Amino acid sequence: MPPTEAEVAALHQRATEAARNSYSPYSRFRVGAALLLEADQRQDGAIVAGTNVENASYRLTCCAEQAAIASAVSLYGPAVRIRAIAIVNLNGAACMPCGACRQTLLEFATPETAVFYPSATGDTVSTTLAALLPAAFSLTPE
Ligand code: THU
Repeated sequence: MPPTEAEVAALHQRATEAARNSYSPYSRFRVGAALLLEADQRQDGAIVAGTNVENASYRLTCCAEQAAIASAVSLYGPAVRIRAIAIVNLNGAACMPCGACRQTLLEFATPETAVFYPSATGDTVSTTLAALLPAAFSLTPE
């Protein structure tokens, strides 16, 4: 089910709060991501946020989306499912999820999962994971 306007507003709020905690001394690009989880007995439609955590060895940097996913699984367990995600940054820049994050999101989402990110003009782009990651690789877990 697509998120309501109130849910999308809450996602942006939580993502923005997370972005304020960004550890990004190298890029100075402060990113936040917030996941709306599917409502079930345990997750109850919770929102979980994350921010980017950089490293002096640049390739070890963790994107905000990946931090949020790791946090959601840590809090709610391996059955978490993502209904929607909002990505923001405090730099006023475009910020679509990188290729690696698209694949990581799909692990816990569906092709229909809603994705919201800022475009270069400052508008919020509303799309789906399928549109961002066509012909995605997947395996059926055993
Ligand atoms: N970054 C994210 O956290 N998420 C994105 O969707 C794009 C990029 C981070 C990684 C790095 O810390 C900084 O932004 C610059 O690439």
